[in-house]
Amino acid sequence: MDSILIRGNGPLHGSVPIAGAKNACLTLMPATLLTDQPLTLTNTPRLSDIRTMTQLLQSLGAEVAGLNAGTVLALSSHDVTSQRADYDIVRKMRASILVLGPLVARFGQAEVSLPGGCAIGARPVDLHLRALESMGATMDLRDGYVHARAPAGGLRGAVIEFPFVSVGATENALMAATLARGTTVLRNAAREPEIVDLARCLRAMGARIQGEGTPTIEIEGVTTLGGATHRIVTDRIELGTYMLAPAICGGQVELLGGRIDLVAAFCEKLDQAGVSVTQTDRGLTVARRNGRVRAVDVVTEPFPGFPTDLQAQMMALLCTAEGVSRLEERIFENRFMHAPELARMGARIDVQGGIATVTGVERLRGAPVMATDLRASVSLILAALAAEGETLVSRVYHLDRGYERVEEKLRACGAQIERVTRA
Ligand code: EPZ
Repeated sequence: MDSILIRGNGPLHGSVPIAGAKNACLTLMPATLLTDQPLTLTNTPRLSDIRTMTQLLQSLGAEVAGLNAGTVLALSSHDVTSQRADYDIVRKMRASILVLGPLVARFGQAEVSLPGGCAIGARPVDLHLRALESMGATMDLRDGYVHARAPAGGLRGAVIEFPFVSVGATENALMAATLARGTTVLRNAAREPEIVDLARCLRAMGARIQGEGTPTIEIEGVTTLGGATHRIVTDRIELGTYMLAPAICGGQVELLGGRIDLVAAFCEKLDQAGVSVTQTDRGLTVARRNGRVRAVDVVTEPFPGFPTDLQAQMMALLCTAEGVSRLEERIFENRFMHAPELARMGARIDVQGGIATVTGVERLRGAPVMATDLRASVSLILAALAAEGETLVSRVYHLDRGYERVEEKLRACGAQIERVTRA
């Protein structure tokens, strides 16, 4: 099990290439199931979650080939023979549920293991199931699987009003609606850039979609979809994560491929904290304006609000800010597990339900800490970069799900960081 060893080493200088978005790739890959034509995705990130989705699609009979050192994926579902997504793969990654909509839409049936909860919350999939039921599918939950079946004539278009915003449920419904008979309207749909990216790819495949990026998406079903080649949008969560490195350590770092529109709410908070972000023709340049950032209050919300996936990382920054910050996590019920680990490094954090109150300290101190989930793991690394002394972050398999070569990218900017592999 690998660990990562970091020694606080002062300001960072250099540039970091930002990869394609994990959470766009994880919904674009299942889109191959909607057509028997080839789908090619470029700018794909090289992450363990992508390898898990590859295994899942291959277990259904789809072909998935990594080209160009894994930054291109060539997919084909011409020979899909199974519509059963087994628990042993699904339990490794919740996004596996995103094969449900495409399978029911194209093959009329699916047996998908229920994903189960994860560290940050119960994360049910009831909205996914309700959306497909609105299109005429029957959902039978038994032995830990959802057995879905479309009506004889296939899914029907429907008006679907989501009671609250769900990224995954919007993605499943959007994909299924492309092959439904008639018109589907998604109301209170998620507006994340990953949804916009999915809609663009589906449109290139022949889908008729309008309104993506707004709360109302309208889809005119078609009988078949074709193939396409699609470049995956930049990963706004990886982008925001690395923007925090110069903010917490000092110095100046350029994030190649960064775009302010992907992280506008996040940039507003950085500006309030005293961190400047400048758009260049290569990406975003980030530098702290003064010696120490100022405390700010943060509330996580669906896009275009402050992303929950940057909450843990922002907390690391605010642990060293001047003043008291209040972070409210409104998306997940248990997403402060990084707090006790940061406290081991001298952070002062008081968690009461969904609110964490952070009293900034001058300097954190290195300590052995443990990663608990994907975004918590990288918040510990950010804290360690600015801490005095040595930090060993264990269980970094969480990290490798969503961050490609994190130690290389940070070392290139002057960080003292290395991966320690233990038998
Ligand atoms: C996606 O998860 C992302 N994952 C998450 O990123 C991200 O945190 C989340 O959206 C919110 O932005 C992928 O895209 C693969 P939701 P998803 O459905 O779709 C509840 C990361 O770190 N809910 O928008 O699962 C749910 O429990 C990951 O990359 C239901 O109750 O999130 C949560 O509290 C972590 N019933 C809230 O809604 C449902 O049917 C938002 O979940 C669906 C969701």
